[in-house]
Amino acid sequence: MPTVYVTRRARFNAAHRLHNDERSGAWNQATFGACNSPNWHGHNYTLDVTVAGEPDPETGYVLDLAQLSRLIEDHVVRHLDHKNLNLDVPFMQDIIPSTENLVVAIWDRLANVLPAGRLHRVYLEETEKNSAEYFGPNS
Ligand code: NI
Repeated sequence: MPTVYVTRRARFNAAHRLHNDERSGAWNQATFGACNSPNWHGHNYTLDVTVAGEPDPETGYVLDLAQLSRLIEDHVVRHLDHKNLNLDVPFMQDIIPSTENLVVAIWDRLANVLPAGRLHRVYLEETEKNSAEYFGPNS
């Protein structure tokens, strides 16, 4: 059977501040620019989750994308949407909430809960111009 990649998209918005407490204010300002703004700012995120697998002969599906959507909602979006990523999200505690760190955290929350197939890619757009993607710890 061929391996096929299926993708479900989700959207959420969240506030954050990029800041490294170990470094000076000047370093943080120079490194993170507007994303270091002390009183937070928000982004409208677009999240694509791609699962690889062989289509089930009975359904033609790698997995049911409605089921994948519910898993993304329960394990990721519900915890991030309309939240402050620095303050409100237990799994982002003490992690700088960059798009890079978010894709790794999102991967870790989804990799072991899929009913079929295997997680292939987590892609997150922070803005129209900036995104990060992660293919897991073995790639
Ligand atoms: Ni930002």
